[in-house]
Amino acid sequence: MTAPTLPALLAERRVVVIAGAGGVGKTTIAAALALAAAETGRRVLCLTIDPAKRLFDRLGLDAGSAAEQRLDPAPFAAAGIALKGELTVVMLDTKQTFDELVRRHASSPAAAERILGNEFYAYVSTQLAGTQAYMAMEKVLSVLSDERYDLVVLDTPPTADALDFLDAPGRLIETLDSPALRWLGDVFERSGRLSFNLVAQGIAFVLKTLAKLTGQGFLERLSEFVSEVNQLFGGFRERAERVSAAFKKPEFTYLLAATASPNALDEAQFFAERLQRLGLGAGGVIVNRVRRSGLSTPGRAELEAELVRRGLVLENDLAGRVLRALAEESALAAAERKTLEARKAAELSAARVPWVLEVPALADSVNDVAALVAVSRCLVPSAASSGSGS
Ligand SMILES: Nc1ncnc2c1ncn2[C@@H]1O[C@H](COP(=O)(O)OP(=O)(O)OP(=O)(O)O)[C@@H](O)[C@H]1O
Ligand SMILES: [Mg+2]
Repeated sequence: MTAPTLPALLAERRVVVIAGAGGVGKTTIAAALALAAAETGRRVLCLTIDPAKRLFDRLGLDAGSAAEQRLDPAPFAAAGIALKGELTVVMLDTKQTFDELVRRHASSPAAAERILGNEFYAYVSTQLAGTQAYMAMEKVLSVLSDERYDLVVLDTPPTADALDFLDAPGRLIETLDSPALRWLGDVFERSGRLSFNLVAQGIAFVLKTLAKLTGQGFLERLSEFVSEVNQLFGGFRERAERVSAAFKKPEFTYLLAATASPNALDEAQFFAERLQRLGLGAGGVIVNRVRRSGLSTPGRAELEAELVRRGLVLENDLAGRVLRALAEESALAAAERKTLEARKAAELSAARVPWVLEVPALADSVNDVAALVAVSRCLVPSAASSGSGS
């Protein structure tokens, strides 16, 4: 069986996850793919984490809102893209998603409010490692049952390690349910207050110091929070397991974003290997911001004439400096090409990556309709005519 092409994945899957190292272009690629899918007629929800404000402004979207925002098709029509489907963008609100989860799993509305009002909750729901990724997964699951959308394109949060994403629910639960926190909860539960007789001298000293620094109320509220959160665990842990399992279903596909740098390609490769071990396999790899190779270098006279035509003054060896910059760019592009071809032939092929697509580095950041359309076209050359092709 041949692996589906990108147009086929966009036409057939329910969820397309864009994962990759920080800054490689995940958000941009997610938006460009959502656009391509909407062009072919799908009703797409693009769930984004950290939208580029300028791009949002240009698309007529409010970057400060966590509401679902339907994209106005007019600017795309003007850029030659007729959206047969719909494109809705929503920004992940980690805390709001977490709040909903607590309300759903708490034993009573009062218990939910106690947790939500606890100052430690504010930390756990926004700052704890993995929370953002886990809440993005929660949000996807809640959208899956929404009949207004055929396809969810999920932009993933910047993580130090792209692999973190799949582990987020488990890791979060592990942290909240860690022996240290449980122990602290137990100490309070048994004594009803902080009793130093119950604990070893060394630890008592630490707690005493902590209580002095923070006031005893701090520890009591921490303990209250831990015990309330622990009561959630029956439902909460199960929920995290369900979320993890859902993300392994065949209606999901993982596209790995990278640049041609060795580190970004390493991450894409590790992720592909990981997906393969899970029996999923990567949908494909998108290498973004690839330098253009084979730039023709002008002769000095030709370049000087061009610089003068552009109103520049030929002083301080301007032409020489431009030529050196061009030579450097060419050398970098050639090195990048070599890295990329070697990885495609060896590591990425060993990780069974079915296809590798490239998006060239555009002259400027992707922050307007034309640039987004350009990226989209690089990925799916003619979205309207490709339909469900494979
Ligand atoms: N092909 C491209 N050519 C030029 N600029 C690009 C290209 N793709 C993305 N960019 C720019 O690179 C920057 C990073 O892109 P983006 O925000 O999509 O990355 P990201 O992987 O989502 O980052 P993070 O990990 O921080 O979320 C943005 O300014 C974006 O406009
Ligand atoms: Mg991003």
